[in-house]
Amino acid sequence: MPKLKLKTKLKKHDRLSITVEDLALGGRGIAHVDGMTVFSDRTVPGDEAEVQILKVKKRYLETKLQSITKSSHLRIQPRCEHFDICGGCTWQMLSYEDQLRFKEKQVFSTLEHIGGLKEFERKSIFGCRFSWFYRNKMEFSIGWKTFEKISNHSSEQDAFSIGLHKTGRKYDLFDLQSCHLGSPWNPDIVDAMRQFFIKHHLQPFHFQKNNGLLRSLFLRESKSTGDIMINLVISHEPFPQINAFRDFMVEECDRIFRATPQVPEKKVSEKNEHYPFQPPKLRSLYVSRILPQKGQKTRIAEILLHGEPTIRETLTVENDTLHFQILPQAFFQTNTFQAEILYAQALSLAELSGNEVAYDLYCGTGTIGLFFAKHVKKVYGIEMSQDAVKNARESALLNNIKNIEFFCGDVAEEIHFISEKPDIVVVDPPRVGLRDKVIEYISALRVPKIVYVSCNPATFARDCQFFTQLGYTLKIVQPVDMFPHTYHIEIVALLVHDSV
Ligand SMILES: C[S@@+](CC[C@H](N)C(=O)[O-])C[C@H]1O[C@@H](n2cnc3c(N)ncnc32)[C@H](O)[C@@H]1O
Repeated sequence: MPKLKLKTKLKKHDRLSITVEDLALGGRGIAHVDGMTVFSDRTVPGDEAEVQILKVKKRYLETKLQSITKSSHLRIQPRCEHFDICGGCTWQMLSYEDQLRFKEKQVFSTLEHIGGLKEFERKSIFGCRFSWFYRNKMEFSIGWKTFEKISNHSSEQDAFSIGLHKTGRKYDLFDLQSCHLGSPWNPDIVDAMRQFFIKHHLQPFHFQKNNGLLRSLFLRESKSTGDIMINLVISHEPFPQINAFRDFMVEECDRIFRATPQVPEKKVSEKNEHYPFQPPKLRSLYVSRILPQKGQKTRIAEILLHGEPTIRETLTVENDTLHFQILPQAFFQTNTFQAEILYAQALSLAELSGNEVAYDLYCGTGTIGLFFAKHVKKVYGIEMSQDAVKNARESALLNNIKNIEFFCGDVAEEIHFISEKPDIVVVDPPRVGLRDKVIEYISALRVPKIVYVSCNPATFARDCQFFTQLGYTLKIVQPVDMFPHTYHIEIVALLVHDSV
């Protein structure tokens, strides 16, 4: 292939003055200079900025922000003290209304630019009622403030860190003091653990040297019951202090949760900021060992140190309340309140008559299928996580739902084992979207309706385009915001077979 000539004489390290015009998928500002598209982090439309070129591609430039020379009128004061260094919620400098406006626009423009799709009903985005403290799951990394420094020296206790990743840095962390996406007590749990690790001289896992114990920490909770799950992920190394760790955390959680101000259920602050959480209580304390095996899938050995194996969550969709059990490895939507909205939209788009056979593909803990079950004849769910399928089956029993069956494995394989043909298929794949052979199989069955739930507009647009080439029409697209203050966006959409 002949090499395309670069459109620009600009080169790496050059500095540019830009005026940001829009926001790209993935959250970065977009500007144009010298016929090239310029992407820059941490800018918003209307900003005038100095940036330095990091990469020169054929049609675009990747840059690093040097300074904002004139602030956009869209900029607001970010709420979080870590905003400048945290790689997490990077849209905090926009009002929530503006975030929603940009997300909605991105969904529809991505469908047009990647999928070539324009003719469908565009529904207005559903925003979150509670835009802060909404996450029910947080992962914190355990490592060093400056990884490169520690690589060349032996352990330095003050360089130890447990928190989140610094923006643009793959390995460097900062100590979490506060976070406004997870629950207000999370930083206290993190802090207690930090004290324990420092006191016992426990070291983070060093993936190049393959030594050290501590890898990461998952905090999970139920918004309806207040159940808290703590899961410390460690390496293969011995952890002789494990019982002391258990006793310490049980005691610390008791202290932290007793000090947590009780927000009465359904009481919302004037700014609609606080979700109605239940008083927290430690339900499950796990330590999970990551055991890499040569040539095989990494094994995770879970040790339940305290309490029950699952946390319990409750969702209400269209006056139907269901209860769910959640194990550490099982997927559950991270925004409990907005999951109810998302599932209600999926049900509404499906317009079920009661006689359908429905497939719930990539079903996680079976949530969508279990809500569909009351409105159809039969549901088949497929999911590859064993924990999630275990939870899904338990939840079917718990909710006395008998017309649902779950298969554990890869959708592309398991789908062939279901003999009953579907009238409707719900797909909710991970960010990579659907494999071609799954789209081909569903299309060959000429399934009348597909409800597509997606957390990635780009792969969603690609897959919709493929469906339309195989006999489907994209009818309705409904963006739903599950992730305020980040650039992430969820979509639920309806595709209908052209023969219907
Ligand atoms: C976005 S989640 C959706 C889960 C569920 N629909 C919900 O709303 O909670 C995607 C799920 O697909 C599962 N998964 C990923 N790849 C898969 C595959 N090839 N076959 C089956 N399940 C898969 C993941 O384990 C995860 O539970």
